Amino acid sequence: AIYRGRCHQTCDRCGLYYRCSTSFPYAHPLSVHLQVPLIARAVGDRGLVSQLLGPKFGAFLVCGSLGGKSIPGLAPLVSIKQVYKLEYVNANTKVFGVISNPVGHSKGPVLHNPAFRHTGYNGIYVPMLVDDIKEFFRVYSCTDFAGFSVGIPHKEAAIGCCDEVHPLAKSIGAVNTIVRRPTDGKLVGYNTDCEACITAIEDALRERRIANGEASHTSPLYGKVFVLVGAGGAGRAMAFGAKSRGAQVVIFNRNYERAKALAQAVSGKALPYECLDKFCPENGMILANASAVGMQPNINQTPVSKEALGAYELVFDAVYTPRNTRLLQEAAEAGAIVVSGVEMFIRQALGQFKLFTDGLAPGDFMRQIVLEQF
Ligand SMILES: NC(=O)c1ccc[n+]([C@@H]2O[C@H](COP(=O)([O-])OP(=O)(O)OC[C@H]3O[C@@H](n4cnc5c(N)ncnc54)[C@H](OP(=O)(O)O)[C@@H]3O)[C@@H](O)[C@H]2O)c1
Repeated sequence: AIYRGRCHQTCDRCGLYYRCSTSFPYAHPLSVHLQVPLIARAVGDRGLVSQLLGPKFGAFLVCGSLGGKSIPGLAPLVSIKQVYKLEYVNANTKVFGVISNPVGHSKGPVLHNPAFRHTGYNGIYVPMLVDDIKEFFRVYSCTDFAGFSVGIPHKEAAIGCCDEVHPLAKSIGAVNTIVRRPTDGKLVGYNTDCEACITAIEDALRERRIANGEASHTSPLYGKVFVLVGAGGAGRAMAFGAKSRGAQVVIFNRNYERAKALAQAVSGKALPYECLDKFCPENGMILANASAVGMQPNINQTPVSKEALGAYELVFDAVYTPRNTRLLQEAAEAGAIVVSGVEMFIRQALGQFKLFTDGLAPGDFMRQIVLEQF
């Protein structure tokens, strides 16, 4: 039987979350009294999670699309078999996911699912297209939903959804990881973006220093002008990280008020977005793009003109889809050290995996997947 219900309630038996109109109350009694097995599946992009979690909640059948093509609400058969491996999902499987909007670009599933299996952890990691994060956590209160990556645009609002927030995440004002504590079910928020991007930049600078025979114990960011584009969740993490290393943080953001508020929080400086290309107080600065400019599908966009890139020793781009953004290509042509958002992605994912599983992340394995597949 195929029932195309459109509701906004949760089934406490199957854990599925139905959004839209009101037919769920009719579907639920139907499933209770039905003499034959019934698979309920939400459709569209928001319904994908119901398809992928079917086996956890007792479904004996899962559908996938053919030809590697993703259809809204239906994952390609090839990823059901190779990424999610739904044949291993059972009632004890812990559910993790990325809460974001949009969510289709996230590489989390292709990284975390194989890492779960590599370490023998019974978990699944799914994309969760979420509009309203508060409503999401109200509905997904079941302890089986054990942990979440938080993406665009929810990182700041996620703080208000947590019962406890790690001090670093609290000072940053953004959470990118939420773990449901097994002992009491409380939601605890963390930020793994901050150390991920700052250590990626530091390691690249140190490599250059060592090659030049200039090794030092202090952070290579100490005293540097750190030009930050973007003041959203990722931008806040970078601003606090750069400040913690003694850099002078200068922030440019499309929304100037947001830049000013962040600059004040890190004792930095905010300048109007239009001045970014002309900003050149010295050579050898660090540029970090934490805005969504250049992200798929807008891959021809770049936040800084090629001509202005000569002033930077290192250019980092948080955008990781595509891996080699226009900004990074032009920065390399201008002679800068370039650090891809993929490096940050690997490091923040390792941090998340440790928090999710309360154990060590398989670093080499996860790095290999990212470098092979992204
Ligand atoms: N590599 C990684 O591991 C990693 C981790 C986190 C994030 N990221 C990437 O970092 C980027 C930002 O993520 P987020 O979580 O910080 O998102 P967010 O909180 O939604 O912030 C988005 C930022 O991008 C700016 N922005 C968006 N569209 C713009 C446009 N057309 N022109 C100028 N500025 C624009 C926003 O400026 P306004 O304030 O003016 O709106 C804001 O500063 C995304 O591309 C994301 O994929 C990568």
